[in-house]
Amino acid sequence: NQDKPRFTIGFSQCIGSDQWRVTMLEEMRRELSFHSDIELIYEDAGGNSNKQIEQVKSLLEKDIDLLIISPNESEPLTPIVEQAFSQGTPVVVIDRKVSSNFYTAYVGADNFEIGRMAGEYLAHRLGEKGNIIEVTGLTGSSPAIERNEGFKNALKRYPSIKIIKQLSGSWLNNKAQEEVSLNKHLLFQADAIFAHNDQMALGTCAVLRNNDLEGKIKLVGVDALPGKNNGLELVSKKVLDASMLYPTGGKEAIRTAINILNKLPFDKNTALKSVVIDSSNVELMILQADKMTSQQKDIERQQNMLSEQKIVYNNQQVILNILVVS
Ligand code: FRU
Repeated sequence: NQDKPRFTIGFSQCIGSDQWRVTMLEEMRRELSFHSDIELIYEDAGGNSNKQIEQVKSLLEKDIDLLIISPNESEPLTPIVEQAFSQGTPVVVIDRKVSSNFYTAYVGADNFEIGRMAGEYLAHRLGEKGNIIEVTGLTGSSPAIERNEGFKNALKRYPSIKIIKQLSGSWLNNKAQEEVSLNKHLLFQADAIFAHNDQMALGTCAVLRNNDLEGKIKLVGVDALPGKNNGLELVSKKVLDASMLYPTGGKEAIRTAINILNKLPFDKNTALKSVVIDSSNVELMILQADKMTSQQKDIERQQNMLSEQKIVYNNQQVILNILVVS
């Protein structure tokens, strides 16, 4: 049977419920639809590092041919990734990093650069002076560490800009909302807020609205995802001043994995491009995203038609064989 999987990829996702990661998985499945000989086993750790370690262990016991992983937090997930790698299972790390070099390839955008871009953007918008609150992602996850570093570094060049508070929003809308609410007295001194992702920026915006501060404090996020209530729409509706594009890398991770499995050359580091999305380019981005979606629908339609044709063809072969034998 030509459709029997030749390779099995295990994908360990740190948390599968948000739209950014739903998009990542969709991109992976779309790319895999061109490879009927590859099976994907998907595990979602729901934001729990211990659960993710267990899930990776059980994937390894299932004898997967390659592991793709987005580690919830760097330190706790490092040993199990090292173990997979040293026992000979290739590992593709995506988006969040581990703390060692024992992996086969990494796919993701540069989070230092994203933090730096957010800092430069706000410095410019604030006329190089003012107070900023930073709402960070999950402490211990690499994009939170790197976005913070890049942001701080960029602002060093602007002595009249101060980060007056760092709040941990753990990547979550409601957690950010809660933390910002608890510190709302600080909002009256703030000129801008940098949230490490758009969903935390949206949670922050709810607090601003409740305190009659919406539009009075500049608000910047990260991800710039298309779709309802996501970054592009939020920038377009001026809920956010800007969002730093953070591509999911789903397609690139599968392509890298397939090259590794087929012993073809691959990039050890696939650096995805980021860009500032604000009112000057957001409509163009939305148009492009819509166009991509419609092209993808066309491709899926063609794939469905092809597989229907294949069934018709196979049935005809069976009939032909019967006729020849009788
Ligand atoms: C989604 C997410 C994104 C963020 C990324 C960082 O789970 O929180 O919003 O950019 O993870 O790993």
